[in-house]
Amino acid sequence: MQQAPTRDADHLAHIDTVRRRFDDAMAAHEVPCVVIASGGVAQRFLDDIAYPFKVNPLFNYWVPLTQHPDSYLIYRRGETPRLLLHAPEDFWHKTPEAPQGAWTEAFEIESHGEADAMEKALSDLEDAVFLGEQPPEALQSRPRNPEGLLNHLHYYRAWKTTYELDCQREANRLGALGHRAAEAGFRDGASEFELHQAFCTACGHTQNDLPYPGIIALNANGSTLHYDRLERETPETHRAFLIDAGAGYAGYASDITRTYSGGDKGFADLIDAVDAMQRELCDLVRPGVSFGELHDQTHRRVARLLADWAFITVSADEAFDSGLTRRFFPHGLGHFIGLQVHDVGGHMGGPDGRRAPPPEAHPHLRTTRELDTDQTLTIEPGVYFIDNLLDPIRDTDEGKAVNWEQVDEFRPFGGVRIEDDIRVTADGHENMTRNAFNKVQAGG
Ligand code: GLY
Ligand code: MN
Ligand code: MN
Repeated sequence: MQQAPTRDADHLAHIDTVRRRFDDAMAAHEVPCVVIASGGVAQRFLDDIAYPFKVNPLFNYWVPLTQHPDSYLIYRRGETPRLLLHAPEDFWHKTPEAPQGAWTEAFEIESHGEADAMEKALSDLEDAVFLGEQPPEALQSRPRNPEGLLNHLHYYRAWKTTYELDCQREANRLGALGHRAAEAGFRDGASEFELHQAFCTACGHTQNDLPYPGIIALNANGSTLHYDRLERETPETHRAFLIDAGAGYAGYASDITRTYSGGDKGFADLIDAVDAMQRELCDLVRPGVSFGELHDQTHRRVARLLADWAFITVSADEAFDSGLTRRFFPHGLGHFIGLQVHDVGGHMGGPDGRRAPPPEAHPHLRTTRELDTDQTLTIEPGVYFIDNLLDPIRDTDEGKAVNWEQVDEFRPFGGVRIEDDIRVTADGHENMTRNAFNKVQAGG
């Protein structure tokens, strides 16, 4: 039997940590009570069909419920949190089941079938602050999402509890199952659409369960950074496959990228070179390291790779100094990950809302913070052959630094990205993604 990925004691300790973080944030901002909405179901324009439900991450932070719209968490500082679950009994929808598990002991739980009953339960909260998208009628006049309180909460979400780390490890394990199935599909000559289906099936996910839509790119499509077409037609050749796809567990995400060669030795070697660079970068991770500095280190390594592979005609130092590497690696090295794939707080300089914005040269860098133990983030360097970044410089002075013959040879492969989810440990890092691939390989 599969061992449960989280332990009850860790889960209860997590809820206690969340509670203490709320206590501190609420004390600092003189908020006696918060009401956190799970979120509503949005209707499509001029239609009676709804968009898929996505839970408010602040609600999910407290409770492992991702499929309970129109529910609320009420927390009055120092008191037992109350969980008000919307449980309509009608013949259109399945009534959500009452939650089970040791974690429920940490809450006073009430179910309300009728909207009126929920509104009534939310009345008389004159000192509450509302955290969510759309307040219920009873809380229309209350303050919403005060920035100071949110900053405080977001800053501390970067540090993951033991329970959260276990959820993320499980999300990686499920993701690794999906990746293995997709790689097998690639070897069998599947279409992008079929590869996507294979990934979802192996994770046990529907499209809506995925933490993000996923990038399933065959051949040159890998050069479109957020490629989302899912071609139904099978291409004539399967020369390259870039898959950036993750799974979810209890609301926590994994975000994993692998690139495969269909047989070309040169592209397989390039994948190995990026993979080695990615592992070297992971090895630089430890408490006290600035993520902005790691991003710079990445550009230095990308410059060296471009020179070693003769993609450029200038030295690695010149390519780094001139910013030429940004044409081949135009995104950030990574980001915090947790309840959100791009987790909050990456640009925060402290709990008081101070900002640590990305440097002008690297506006897409999502994390600028100094790393600390038990923070989780992705490390995802890449090297791509992107037409609309390269073509504009072809006949310019900058273009003289590019070896176009070599670049043109690799364009049909799109590009390479390798992305793992890692935890910062006291003296280095834990690679949750590679551990998950090893576990799945071993049948776990
Ligand atoms: N999958 C989106 C990202 O890697 O950030
Ligand atoms: Mn990522
Ligand atoms: Mn990704």
